[in-house]
Amino acid sequence: MKTLIINIKELLQVRDSSILKVSGAEMAILPTIKNAYLVIQNGLISDFGSMDDLPNINPEKCIDADGKMVLPSWCDSHTHIVYAGNREQEFVDRINGLTYEEIANRGGGILNSAKKLNEATEEEIYDQSKNRLEEVMRIGTGAVEIKSGYGLTVDGELKMLRVIQRLAQNYPITIKATFLGAHAFPLEYAANHKGYIDLIINEMLPEIAKNKLADYIDAFCETGYFTVEETEQIMEAGIKYGLKPKIHVNQFNSIGGIQAGIKYKAISVDHLEIMKPEDIESLKNTETMPVALPSCSYFLSIPYTPAREMIAAGLPLALATDYNPGSTPSGNMNFVVATACIKMKMTPEEAINAATLNGAYAMGISETHGSITIGKKANLIITKPIPSYYQLPYAFGSNLIDTVIIEGKIFA
Ligand code: NIG
Ligand code: FE
Repeated sequence: MKTLIINIKELLQVRDSSILKVSGAEMAILPTIKNAYLVIQNGLISDFGSMDDLPNINPEKCIDADGKMVLPSWCDSHTHIVYAGNREQEFVDRINGLTYEEIANRGGGILNSAKKLNEATEEEIYDQSKNRLEEVMRIGTGAVEIKSGYGLTVDGELKMLRVIQRLAQNYPITIKATFLGAHAFPLEYAANHKGYIDLIINEMLPEIAKNKLADYIDAFCETGYFTVEETEQIMEAGIKYGLKPKIHVNQFNSIGGIQAGIKYKAISVDHLEIMKPEDIESLKNTETMPVALPSCSYFLSIPYTPAREMIAAGLPLALATDYNPGSTPSGNMNFVVATACIKMKMTPEEAINAATLNGAYAMGISETHGSITIGKKANLIITKPIPSYYQLPYAFGSNLIDTVIIEGKIFA
């Protein structure tokens, strides 16, 4: 079964299979082929090149992409799309002057979502979450990481992870699951942090590992949430069960979470709105991918990750949505790419690299996703006819996606 795409105005992010991430000055380079073709076979990219060298094949399906761009679909390496209900009231409370922190201190925030999640049935959560997943697939996301963390009970966390597993079984999109039991301390453990950490380590983790429900272990390392020491304990326990760390750090305060993540070889450290010079320094020459979440900065009106400083220091950077009910009720990677350009002063090339190849790296799938490379998954975006790829971040409110292909098939 071969599908041929012809007359592609520009094929973006063409890479050799040895390139698994791009850092520093390399991020400014987006290799492309103008006037290109691409062949898909068995769900994978099997060939591509210039239209001048179009091979003589007999495809089952031919797509004419005249005037359109083709690029790898977005790799969204940080989301919380499995949740119940919404937090619209907190949104309005913030408009009326309360801060995210004040809302959390009143028992809102993550605990509000945890209450809703524990009250909802697994079926209800699945139905709400699948709608969000389909929504992001239609706007170009071809791989997604999804976290637990709104259960905060043994049953609730397992329920969330089973929903993630079911989504992965029922949809062609690649899904990585992250266990985030250490998202917040439930009220009954407010004065007994050790008790909750024991619950995570002794009851949640063994059950999750036994049922192979997670790939990564996460913790919200932040003032008022998990200390660096607690985060290290959680990472260490996760590693014992084969889960690689991938953690929330530096959202509101720089307290040493980045250094802890590096110490435990985290695949990524995410948020990074508040960065001290030593945080940037620590990330140099490590395998840990820094991940920025600009729509969270936008929604909460908090600082944006200092992308320019980080790239100037030679670091790589990935972009993700953080889709969740509290800090980022949006899973739109197109908006993330545009916001990174507009607010973080990333160039279109840097933002596209960060949202494809580096995003894939941040969820451990850059050998199979994130670039136009022979043998990688045919997870592709075909744009509407546009003058150049600058249009993607420039026309930030427009839907410029014509067709989404996941594992070689058009996703409608
Ligand atoms: O990544 N920062 C921690 N967790 C989420 C938000 C959680 C919530 O408010 O529900 C985030 O922003
Ligand atoms: Fe998050």
